[in-house]
Amino acid sequence: MITLIKLKKTSKVYGEQNNIIKALDNVDLEIEEGKVITIMGPSGSGKSTLLNLIGAMDNPTSGEIFVQDNEIGGLTERKLSKFRKEVVGFVFQNYYLLPNVDMLDNVLIPLIPYGISLQDKERAIKLLEMVGLRDRIHSKVGKLSGGESQRVAIARALINDPSVILADEPTGNLDSTTGKSIVELLINLTERGKTVIIVTHDHRIAKMVSEHPLGKNIWIKDGQLTDDPEFDIYGW
Ligand SMILES: Nc1ncnc2c1ncn2[C@@H]1O[C@H](COP(=O)(O)OP(=O)(O)OP(=O)(O)O)[C@@H](O)[C@H]1O
Ligand SMILES: [Mg+2]
Repeated sequence: MITLIKLKKTSKVYGEQNNIIKALDNVDLEIEEGKVITIMGPSGSGKSTLLNLIGAMDNPTSGEIFVQDNEIGGLTERKLSKFRKEVVGFVFQNYYLLPNVDMLDNVLIPLIPYGISLQDKERAIKLLEMVGLRDRIHSKVGKLSGGESQRVAIARALINDPSVILADEPTGNLDSTTGKSIVELLINLTERGKTVIIVTHDHRIAKMVSEHPLGKNIWIKDGQLTDDPEFDIYGW
């Protein structure tokens, strides 16, 4: 297996002097290509910070992060924007869709700065088909259910064919049945060679992922990774 993501002694510190918060504290982590990972931990433990660093949405205070052989800290602004466009796709708890725009155009949003071709539209339609929404591509997203909205958001995250999908509590606003189907969709992206990282508070999701042959659970507490099984059961 190829290591796709590697963090070396990575820290992220907020604040100054006697008021510092170590959001991430000297983290070493390797994630292999094609895996599906959950990151679990209490509120404030550093989950979103970790995801944002891997997605180059933020810089570490110290340490190094490699994603697909890019050392993120060493990239120029130009290469960073190429990295964000081509290597990672984000999915969020709140979907961040445009309500007055139809599904198809929502999926195409990341391509707007680059111009949208007919092939791009065909690709977007295929992605909406993949997430089970082919018949409704011209429906405005404002009236969709949470599960449908998250499907559109997943299609949008895939429009640039990124290697890595970073999902920050993607089921946080969904009931458990809908959440399960969204997680199944995310897990199935490994069949397309994607590496998928899911931040979640939901133990059932962690269980689903850990039961998958490519699945793995990671735990974080106070900015540090832990694999203490006690923490799973009694941690919070
Ligand atoms: N921009 C910021 N400025 C200052 N402190 C921050 C900032 N972003 C995060 N933090 C702090 O860093 C720590 C980790 O935050 P993070 O958002 O990564 O936690 P989380 O595990 O995602 O929590 P949640 O489950 O509530 O989303 C927290 O103590 C948080 O208050
Ligand atoms: Mg968070």
